[in-house]
Amino acid sequence: MKNIKELYKYELARFEVQKKNLRRLWNIPQETAELLYTLVLTKSPKHILEIGTSNGFSTFWLSIAAESCDAVVDTIEVDKDRFKLAKRNLKNRKNIIQRFGKAELIIPELIDKYDFVFIDAGKINYIDYIKILINKLNNNAVIVADNVISHYDTVKEYLDYIKSSERFDSVTLNIDSGLNIAVYKTDIIKIKE
Ligand SMILES: C[S@@+](CC[C@H](N)C(=O)[O-])C[C@H]1O[C@@H](n2cnc3c(N)ncnc32)[C@H](O)[C@@H]1O
Repeated sequence: MKNIKELYKYELARFEVQKKNLRRLWNIPQETAELLYTLVLTKSPKHILEIGTSNGFSTFWLSIAAESCDAVVDTIEVDKDRFKLAKRNLKNRKNIIQRFGKAELIIPELIDKYDFVFIDAGKINYIDYIKILINKLNNNAVIVADNVISHYDTVKEYLDYIKSSERFDSVTLNIDSGLNIAVYKTDIIKIKE
C-alpha cells in the first residue's frame, strides 16, 4: 500500500486534516480502507455501491481501487453538508456518482446491478438496505457491512438475515469495528441427500 499512499498523499492528507478538525465524519479506520481497496482489486467489480459517503474517505479508497478495473462507484449520503464536502474532496475522481438523499428512497430507483456493496450508514437500517438491494445484486456480489461488532445489537437483524438466507455465504472479521463480508448467490446449490 506504500506506493498508493505516496501517489495520493495530498488527497489523503486532506482527509486526515478533516478527520482531526471536523466532528461527525465517522470515517472508517485506515486498516478497513486498505481492506476495502484490496477486496475491490480481488473482486474486479464493474459496479460498486456505497451507502454512507460522509466526506468521501471510504469512497476515495473504493474509487482508486475501482480505477484498476474500470468500475463505477455509486455513493449515497443523506446529510447535505457532508455530501457537499465529499463533492469537493472527490472532485478530481472521474469514476464516482454521488447521490444525495435517503438510501431507502434512492436504492429502489437505481437501474444498475451491483457486484460490490459497502454498507456504512444508519445501522438500524442495514436490514432495510439489504432487502431493497437484493434484486440489484449480480451473482457473486460481495456485500461488506461495517460496525457489525461495535453495533452488534443494532445490526443483529441484518446479520441474522444474512446468516439464515441460503443465498448468502458470509464471514465476520474482528477488525476495527467489525466487518461482515457476504457473497450473494443467484443460484442456490442444492445438496443431495
Ligand atoms: C459512518 S458514516 C460514513 C463514513 C464513510 N463511509 C467513510 O468511512 O468515510 C455514515 C454516513 O451515513 C449517512 N447516512 C445515515 N443514514 C443514511 C441514509 N438513510 N441514507 C443515506 N446516508 C445515510 C450519515 O449521514 C453519515 O454521513
